[in-house]
Amino acid sequence: MNDYTEEINRRRTFAIISHPDAGKTTLTEKFLLYGGAINLAGSVKGKATARHAVSDWMEIEKERGISVTSSVLQFEYGGYCINILDTPGHQDFSEDTYRTLMAADSAVMVIDASKGVEAQTRKLFKVCVMRKIPIFTFINKMDRDARDTFDLLDDIEKELGIATCPVNWPIGSGKEFKGVYDREKKCVISYADTEKGTKEGRATEIPVAEEDGLRAQIGDGAADKLLEEIDLLDGAGADFDLEAVRAGDLTPVCFGSALTNFGVEIFLKHFLQMTTTPLARKADVGMIEPTENAFSAFVFKIQANMNKAHRDRVAFMRICSGRFDAQMEVRHVQGGKVMRLSQPQQIMADDRKILSEAYAGDIIGVFDPGIFSIGDTLCSPKEKFQYEGIPTFAPEHFARVRQIDTMKRKQFVKGIQQIAQEGAIQIFQEFNTGLEEIIVGVVGVLQFDVLKYRLENEYNVEIRLDSLPYEHIRWIENKDEVDIEKLTGTSDMKKVKDMKGNPLLLFVNPWSVGMTLDRNKGLVLTEFNKN
Ligand code: G4P
Repeated sequence: MNDYTEEINRRRTFAIISHPDAGKTTLTEKFLLYGGAINLAGSVKGKATARHAVSDWMEIEKERGISVTSSVLQFEYGGYCINILDTPGHQDFSEDTYRTLMAADSAVMVIDASKGVEAQTRKLFKVCVMRKIPIFTFINKMDRDARDTFDLLDDIEKELGIATCPVNWPIGSGKEFKGVYDREKKCVISYADTEKGTKEGRATEIPVAEEDGLRAQIGDGAADKLLEEIDLLDGAGADFDLEAVRAGDLTPVCFGSALTNFGVEIFLKHFLQMTTTPLARKADVGMIEPTENAFSAFVFKIQANMNKAHRDRVAFMRICSGRFDAQMEVRHVQGGKVMRLSQPQQIMADDRKILSEAYAGDIIGVFDPGIFSIGDTLCSPKEKFQYEGIPTFAPEHFARVRQIDTMKRKQFVKGIQQIAQEGAIQIFQEFNTGLEEIIVGVVGVLQFDVLKYRLENEYNVEIRLDSLPYEHIRWIENKDEVDIEKLTGTSDMKKVKDMKGNPLLLFVNPWSVGMTLDRNKGLVLTEFNKN
């Protein structure tokens, strides 16, 4: 056992995912409140008003009142050191969101009880499934009229393909919300609408076995319904199985109301009991265990110009093993250099705290003089291994970029290449020409605005974006066996290449993808760029 094993084992690092407006920010605020990280709930994120968001680094975020970038929060609760990775909650999210999930060991999924699974949740969920990380569900807004509980669970199972196991069960909703039934303790925790920003605590617990007390508390109608539902649930629901939870096959579900602070602490406690210590990660030399190895980390996000005054670039890394010390030398594997990390910091709210040490499970930001790329590994100088790469997700929106002032060619190319390097956008060229025609692909359309804004503000280049009809991109897996020139696709297919020269095809609809595969026997197409 290392002397830092205990520090690592008390770490819990998770991402919070939800459809916009489901209550992710409110829930995060309440978590922080329990941890005493902030005094007043409400200071995590402001909407379009004067309150500033934790992650409002870019002007565009402030203008629109949404968060584009992800942020990291750390707080202590019940002996645990918790790292929350916030994911941008806007529909037009970027690849950043996906990558943030790569740095988490589990995910909390917030669902609006009146809506069920929404588009955004579905997309993010796919990434969790791919990584097989545990997912914990909080069904929020029970103080408002909710959909039928069985329907909500059904929705999660069908839409997301994961079994559910309710930890507690709601009694009514909206004006009729009486509280939740705790399945483990077999008692009802009655709903108490605590004031905003205060900790919960006024709730009373009534064992369901004491039926008279139960009926007196929640009324005959609600009691009958509850007893019937408990029977159904105990008979039909998936059994609780911690192994299945940890394998990402079963999600524990809690019901509550983040706004009125009901059910939040119960959820947090259950979550902390069930979630894992920092997970081992796959590298080219095998699995790297957090407590058995010396320091190692991988870069999952790069953010430029976070502070306009300094024009800096920060590389965010997830520590995967060992202890980090600001004085230590580390090996940047891809760069082939041994170095000290410059200005290691923890980024929280508008604050940046310079760190002297951190442990596996933690996220640190370091000053990046332009040497890091997403997916890079850092490790002890004595070692040399690489963590598995972070997959590039297929962009779903494309536009042709034109420069308005052609004299500024150099700045334009530099700017667009740097922004692409950060991973905010992907750039492509016409198959047979050079950089004069640039096609940009993004995962969320908001990234187009971000690109335009950043090129103007940071590189002084004005551009025009003409959107293209393509929505499906495919890399050619067996490119060495295929003569790209001779490929016959559909009339709406476009051949392009990425910055590394890899050929790829753009399609307007899935039908064209199928047709092209039919017409070119032996062609293998892939949605992910593995090169
Ligand atoms: P998000 O981060 O997932 O986008 O959601 P956020 O927490 O910002 O919540 C979206 C809206 O839903 C907010 O109202 C918030 O107060 C409300 N909300 C969150 N949890 C609950 C809940 O348990 N019950 C009820 N009734 N409402 C909840 P808003 O009016 O849009 O914003 P604000 O002005 O209150 O910040």
